[in-house]
Amino acid sequence: MTEHEQEPEYQVVVTEAEQEEAERLGDELPATLPVLPLKETVVFPESMTPLAIGQERSIKLIDDVVGGDRLLALVTVRDESVEAPGWDDLYEVGTAAVVHKMIRVPDGTLRILVQGIRRIRIERRVLDDPYLVGEFVELRDRLEESKELEALTRNVQSLFARIIGLVPYLPEELQIAAANVDDPSALCHLVASTLRLKTQDKQELLELVDVAERLRKTSLLLNGELEVFELGTKIQSQVQSELEKGQREFFLRQQLKAIQEELGEGDPEQAELQELRERLDALELPEEVKRASDRELSRLERLPSAAAEYGVIRTYLDWIATLPWGVTTADNLDLDRARRVLDEDHYDLEKVKDRIIEHLAVSKLRNDPSGQILCFVGPPGVGKTSLGHSIARTLERKFSRISVGGVRDEAEIRGHRRTYIGAMPGTIIRALRDAESMNPVLLIDEIDKMGADVRGDPASAMLEVLDPEQNRTFRDHYLDLPFDLSKVLFICTANTIDTVPGPLLDRMDVIALSGYTEDEKLGIAKRYLTPKQIEAHGLTPERISISDNALRLVIREYTREAGVRNLERRIADLCRKAARKVAEGHEGKIRVDERRVRSFLGPRHFSGEARRRTADPGVATGLAYTAAGGDVLFIEAQAYPGKGKLTITGQLGEVMQESAQAAVSWVRSHSGELGLPDDWFAEHDVHIHVPAGAVPKDGPSAGVTMATAIASLVRGTPVADDIGMTGELTLTGQVLPIGGVREKVLAAQRAGLKRVVLPSENEVDLEELPAETRKELRFTLADSIQDVFAVAFATANGAQDGRPSSVKVEKSSSQAASARTQ
Ligand SMILES: Nc1ncnc2c1ncn2[C@@H]1O[C@H](COP(=O)(O)OP(=O)(O)OP(=O)(O)O)[C@@H](O)[C@H]1O
Ligand SMILES: [Mg+2]
Repeated sequence: MTEHEQEPEYQVVVTEAEQEEAERLGDELPATLPVLPLKETVVFPESMTPLAIGQERSIKLIDDVVGGDRLLALVTVRDESVEAPGWDDLYEVGTAAVVHKMIRVPDGTLRILVQGIRRIRIERRVLDDPYLVGEFVELRDRLEESKELEALTRNVQSLFARIIGLVPYLPEELQIAAANVDDPSALCHLVASTLRLKTQDKQELLELVDVAERLRKTSLLLNGELEVFELGTKIQSQVQSELEKGQREFFLRQQLKAIQEELGEGDPEQAELQELRERLDALELPEEVKRASDRELSRLERLPSAAAEYGVIRTYLDWIATLPWGVTTADNLDLDRARRVLDEDHYDLEKVKDRIIEHLAVSKLRNDPSGQILCFVGPPGVGKTSLGHSIARTLERKFSRISVGGVRDEAEIRGHRRTYIGAMPGTIIRALRDAESMNPVLLIDEIDKMGADVRGDPASAMLEVLDPEQNRTFRDHYLDLPFDLSKVLFICTANTIDTVPGPLLDRMDVIALSGYTEDEKLGIAKRYLTPKQIEAHGLTPERISISDNALRLVIREYTREAGVRNLERRIADLCRKAARKVAEGHEGKIRVDERRVRSFLGPRHFSGEARRRTADPGVATGLAYTAAGGDVLFIEAQAYPGKGKLTITGQLGEVMQESAQAAVSWVRSHSGELGLPDDWFAEHDVHIHVPAGAVPKDGPSAGVTMATAIASLVRGTPVADDIGMTGELTLTGQVLPIGGVREKVLAAQRAGLKRVVLPSENEVDLEELPAETRKELRFTLADSIQDVFAVAFATANGAQDGRPSSVKVEKSSSQAASARTQ
C-alpha cells in the first residue's frame, strides 16, 4: 500500500488570506520538521494539494502534526516501488508545508489538504522512528529582474494559456489565475503543480533555485506538452473529421433515399420497374396481354437485377410496352382525293391507279380497307414500292415496309422463342412497332424471293400473317401473345408471280405493272424524277434545266432497263455535276443538253450491240422475259467436224435445253430444204451457246431463235441485224405463243431493234402495247418457223432469200389481222 496518494483531480489555487498565513508560517519555520514521503507527486510552494494518507506511520505523523504546529516537510520518493522509504530513498529537496484540513475516512485512512510554503533542503537526519524527522534549510529563490526574465514570464504565461485552452481537464479559472500571477516564481509553481508532468520533471523544477532557469525549464516542458496536446488535438480532429465525413455521407444518403422514396423513385432498378409499370398501365392491353405482363412484372420485381433472366424479362416487357396496342389512325376514304394523291406521286400508270381506286371504293363500301391484299407485280424500278407509299398517304395511314427477299427462316417472320439468347420478335411485329399503329399500310417487298429450307417455311408463316381468318390472333414466337393484324392493309410486291407460293397468290389481288416505254420514261423523268433530284441536290429550276433531248439520250444510251431506277440515278449524276459547278462559282443557269449529258456522264453505256453481234452467220437475237423485265438475248451456234454431238452451254434451264434439242432436230430433218448435204449433221458437232452465262435462263420461248441461229450457221447467211424474235417451236415447225410480250417488245425497242417476230397467237397482246411502240416497231406474226426464216434471212433490198414465204410484216397490230389473212 502506498504511503499516501495525491488526491486528484485539480489543485486548488491559494487564496490571498491563506497565502498570507502561509507567508507568516514560512517566516517562522522551525529547524526540524517531520518528513512525509510523497509518491508520484511533488508539492510546490504556494500550491494547495490534497493528499490521501494510508500508512500507519504516516497517519501517526499527521496526527502529531495536526496536534502541533501543523507544519511538515514533504519530500518526494525517488523510487516509487519502495514500500517504506527511508532517508536514502528520498530526494534532498522538498517543500515545507502546512496542513490545512484533515478528514478521517471510515476505513481508517486520512485525507488532508496541504499547502506548500517554502523550498527546503535536508541538512541532517534527526529521527527514523516512528517517522522520519530531519533538519532543513530554506532554499531561497535567486531572482534578477531583467528583460529576459519578463520575456520568459510572458512566454510561460502564453504557453500556459494555450494549454489551458486545449486541455479539457483544466478549469478555465486557471486561465485568469495564470494571467494574474506576476511573480515568475509563483507562476512556475502554479504551472508545475497544475500540469500532469512527470514526477522527475517536477522534482527538477523544484530543485531549481534560479527563477530564470526555472522559467526556462517550465517553458521547455510547456512546449513539449503543447506539442503533445496539439498533436493529440490534430489526431483527434482528423479522427473527428473522418468520422464526420462518413457520417455526413451516410446522412446524405439517408436523405436521398427518403427523397427518392417520397418521389416514388427508389433506386435505379426500382425506378426502372416503376417506369415500365407506368408505361404498361397507360396502355389499353387486351386481357390476355395484361395478365401476361402483370405476371412478368411481378417476376421481375422478385429477381435481383444481376440475374440473367432479369434482362430477358425486362426486354420482353419493353417490347410489350412499345407495341401500339389498340392504337389506330382514322382512314381517309375520299376517292377524289385518292386519285389526286396518286397522280401527284406517279406519272401515267392509269390502269394501275384505276385498280387502286376500285380497290379503295370496295373498302369504302365495306368501310374497311384492310383484309384485302394487293400485290404489285412488275420489273424493278417501275414504282411498286413507291405506289405502296402513295396508298398509305392516300388513306392517311402510317406506312411500314419489310423485305422478305432472301428470307429462308420462319423465325425471321415470326421471331424466336424467348428462350433463345438475343431473341426478338419477327419482322412483322417489328414493323408494327415502327408504324406505331395497328392499322398501317404494311408493304411486304419481294415476296417472290422468299425461300424455304430446313429452318421452316417462311411462306407458311406469311400465309398466316396474310390470312384474314387467322391474322386476328397472330402469334409471334417471341411475344407468345395474340396480336391483331386484321386491321393492317397488306401490300406485297414481286418481280414475277411465278415464284410466289400458290396459296399466297390465291389470297392476293394481283396488279401488274409493266416496263415503261421511252416516252413514258421521258414523262416520268420530266415531271417527277428531275424535279425530285433537283431539289435533293439543293438546286432550283432557275439554276438547272435538262432538255427533253438530253433526257432521251440518257434513257437511250445510259440506261437499259424496264423501270426508271437507273434513269433516276443518272439524273442524280447530272444534278450532282451541275451542283458542283454551281458550288464552284458558275453563274447563271446550267442548261443540260445532249452535249452536256455526254460530258457529264462520260462514254455511253449501251449502243447498237445487236447489229455488231449478229454480223456473222450463226447468231440470232431472241427476246426474253425475266424478273428484271424484258431483255434481248443472243443465241450463238457453231459447228465443227464431229459425229453429230450437240453441246449446249450458258446456264440454260432444262426446258430451254430441250427446246434447243428440238430446234436442232427440226433443222436436221429439214436440212434438204435448207440446201444441206444429208450427212452434214452426221459429220458435224453443233455447239449452242447463250452468252451472259451468269444469268440463268429458262423457258421454251427461245425455240425459234435457236432454230434460226442454227439455220443461219448451216446456210452461212447472217440473220438480219434489226430483228428480235420469240416463240416456242414444235418438232413439226409450228410456232406456239409465249408470255411477256409487252416486256419483250419494250426490250427490243430499248435495244434499238426495228422488227419483232412474234407467234401469231400473241396477236392480242399487241393491243396492250403503247401506241408509241406500235408506231416505232414493225411486227411479224409467225405461224411456222418458215415464216420466221422468211423475215430473218430477207436481204436488205427486201427480196427474200430462198423459199416463197407466208410472212406477214405489219406496221401495227391493227393492220396485223388483215395482213395475216393475205
Ligand atoms: N410512274 C412513275 N411516276 C413517277 N415516279 C416513278 C414512277 N415509276 C417509278 N417511279 C420512281 O422510280 C423509283 C423506283 O421505284 P420503286 O422503288 O417503287 O420501284 P419498284 O417497282 O419497287 O422496284 P423493285 O422491284 O426493284 O423494288 C422511285 O423513285 C419511284 O418514285
Ligand atoms: Mg421496290
